[in-house]
Order: sequence, then C-alpha cells, then structure tokens
Amino acid sequence: MTFSVAIDGPSGAGKSTIARAVARRTGALYLDTGAMYRAVGLYALERGVDPADAEKVAALAPDADVKVGYEAGLQRVYLGGRDVSEEIRRPEVSAAASKVSAVPEVRVRMVEMQRAIAKGHSVVMDGRDIGTCVLPDATLKVFLVAAPAVRAARRFRELRSVGAPDTYLEVLEAILKRDRDDSTRAASPLRKAEDAVEVDASDLTADEAVREVLKLLSGRIGPVAPEGGEAR
Ligand code: DC
Repeated sequence: MTFSVAIDGPSGAGKSTIARAVARRTGALYLDTGAMYRAVGLYALERGVDPADAEKVAALAPDADVKVGYEAGLQRVYLGGRDVSEEIRRPEVSAAASKVSAVPEVRVRMVEMQRAIAKGHSVVMDGRDIGTCVLPDATLKVFLVAAPAVRAARRFRELRSVGAPDTYLEVLEAILKRDRDDSTRAASPLRKAEDAVEVDASDLTADEAVREVLKLLSGRIGPVAPEGGEAR
C-alpha cells in the first residue's frame, strides 16, 4: 500500500530534516518542493529578471528547465541540466524563491511536476501548500511550526558555519519577512490544512519530531518503521 505524508510550515521549522528522515525510515521517496521554487528563483536571477516582476517571471516560467533527481538517495535539483543543489541555498536565491513562488504560472508548473513525481510511490513531501493543494488526499498532513527565535537561531548557525556574514538580527528579520510574504500572498498562501496535525518543534530535537510524525503515520496505516535510527 502506498501512502503520502505532507509536511508544511514556515521556513526554518526543520521540515526538510524531518521529512527526509521520515522518508528514509519508511522507505518512501522524499521530495523537497522548496528546492524547485529555488531553482526557478535562481533562473530569474541568472536571466536578469527581477523576481518581484510577476509579469516577467510568468513569461519566463515555461523556459525554466527544472528537474529533480536522486543520487545515492539524496535529492538533487537541476536547472537546464546543471546541478544547482548547493547554489539554490544562497540567501539571495531564498529571497528570489519567495518572490517567484507567489506567481500563479510558476505554481501551476511546479504543482504539476510534484504530482507527477509522487505518482505511484509512497512519498514524503515538504513545502507550503502540500496538504492544501498538491496532495489534498495525503494519508497524513503535518503542519510543522517553531518559534521564530528558534528558527532564526538554527539558520544563523547554519549560515555562520559556511562563513556567511549575516547577523542574528538580520537572519531573524529575513525569516519574519518570508513568513509574512509566504502567508499573505494571493496564490496558495501558507496555511494549515483543516485536517492537518500541528506539531510544534520549538522544544523538540529532530529525532523527537521524527518519532512524533512516525507515530502519527502509524496511527493512520499501522506500524511503519523499525525502532532505532537517527534523523540526519
Ligand atoms: O522551503 P524553502 O525555504 O526551500 O522554500 C523556498 C521558497 O519557496 C519559500 O519562500 C516558499 C516557497 N515554497 C512554496 O511557495 N511552496 C512550496 N511548496 C515550497 C516552497
């Protein structure tokens, strides 16, 4: 029997770490949908198009050759055949992704691709609109939240470890702005699906959050994963 898990929530709540671990523990395919919007954001930047110019971004969307692949079980994202999995993590690409993801033409294409990737597999997908739009019949919908200060501290540590110069306050401000933009846009704003279970990860370790999601999934479809194993 195949199943699908939708994990939505604001940026930095730990969705990808948790979704990836749940997929690994259950043998499902993991799809980080944010990476696809990031690739479109990068494409706009590379083509010299202002990501905030909705009309130009809509015109550009059909040319963005975004593909998802898996290498050694890890998701990679390709733009025009080039592996951009690392590049799309840059802060300016995050900002561009947030802007292009508000453009309906971009969303329609991405949602179509995401549903095609999910077809016939058990999947764990993370994003903003998985439970509300991409997989409305998901076996389990989780809305993962964490306090802004917790999310900012985590992101700040990540950025510092790669030598980025951003201060904690700058990171916090960027997170609050993205929350605002993601939840107030007209096209598929970030919101909790009515049948989603809210999990607050502020005081949970990644392993605890993974266990919580696995427990919720077991409640729907019976035992899903052996004991042991850590979130990566
Ligand atoms: O999860 P992330 O930070 O990698 O997402 C990048 C941007 O893409 C973020 O601003 C929200 C947007 N996004 C979206 O609109 N819908 C999704 N399913 C996933 C991400």
